[in-house]
Amino acid sequence: MKAAVIYEYGGPEVFKYEDIPDPDIGKNEILVKVFAASVNPVDWKQRKGNHKFFLKAKFPVVPGYDVSGIVERCGSDDCDLKPGDEVYCRLRRKFGGAFAEYAAAPLDASALKPKNIDHLHAAGIPLAGQTALQALRDKVKIEPGMHVLVTGAAGGVGHFALQIAKLYGAETTAVCSSNHPELLRRLKPDHHIDYRTTDYLAAPDRYDVIFDAAGVESFLSCRNILKNGGVYITSLPRPKLIIHKLLSVFSRGKRVRTLLQRPRTRDLDTLAKMVDEGKLEVIIDSVHSLENVSEAHRRAEEYSSEGKIIVQVR
Ligand SMILES: NC(=O)c1ccc[n+]([C@@H]2O[C@H](COP(=O)([O-])OP(=O)(O)OC[C@H]3O[C@@H](n4cnc5c(N)ncnc54)[C@H](OP(=O)(O)O)[C@@H]3O)[C@@H](O)[C@H]2O)c1
Repeated sequence: MKAAVIYEYGGPEVFKYEDIPDPDIGKNEILVKVFAASVNPVDWKQRKGNHKFFLKAKFPVVPGYDVSGIVERCGSDDCDLKPGDEVYCRLRRKFGGAFAEYAAAPLDASALKPKNIDHLHAAGIPLAGQTALQALRDKVKIEPGMHVLVTGAAGGVGHFALQIAKLYGAETTAVCSSNHPELLRRLKPDHHIDYRTTDYLAAPDRYDVIFDAAGVESFLSCRNILKNGGVYITSLPRPKLIIHKLLSVFSRGKRVRTLLQRPRTRDLDTLAKMVDEGKLEVIIDSVHSLENVSEAHRRAEEYSSEGKIIVQVR
């Protein structure tokens, strides 16, 4: 099969487009004929070697964690899916394996893809969508009437978080640059703040939830704009978070949370239902070919995307 392979850590140019054997699958996996994949910041951070001290690559490696495609084969007879099913999946193998014509996907993080969207859109959901859902529903326990501020609101995680917060009946404030008028028009947050022109940390507004999807703030920087009992949650855990958790004890019930997204079928089913009911949309920043994964990574590394960066495989 054709794949975008890397043999060393480095810049986006390290990708080689070449023939490699199809992946073998275990009994709890399916082989997916990939139609589209999406790029997440973890892909370029791993490619650069940022995570090599706790996740060392055994090169060659095919990166990427999100795919949408068709089940080619199941690893065992005891499988809820069958060949020909249209699925979307969050890959779990070390470094993933999404940027290829075939991928090995875990059964417990694969689901029937939303029916109302194509593979290009479906591939944008698994990692970023589950991050937003798990942060708001499970960690924050979002409720109607809460006021939720989302940083990185135009990005992969942020644009899902805005929509999910609204779905749960929250008032939403989107923090992103003004480079995204179309996204703001489509997602209709209640308020928009351009962080480049407005210091929202010094403004008088107070929030029940600050979802730092862009990972650009901290509990300390946001403490004053949280209501008493409010929650700061970040998608980018840093060591200082432990100190901030201790400090939160003295912060009028204001709490700090972090999240490590957990891939699972039932959350993919939930997100697919939201899409099919017309309650969740996937905004696409750009589409790149498998030969040009380097270009997709270059765009992702600019950290200014509007929705998801997609790699079209077929
Ligand atoms: N913990 C987990 O399990 C988990 C899971 C997924 C992602 N993440 C992390 O979450 C972060 C976001 O991921 P993503 O997929 O959403 O990234 P992304 O798609 O690349 O989006 C990043 C967004 O942040 C915005 N941004 C940049 N600087 C900003 C600032 N100072 N204030 C507000 N917005 C700013 C960018 O647009 P503008 O500057 O134009 O507004 C862009 O839309 C990454 O660091 C990623 O590694 C963690």
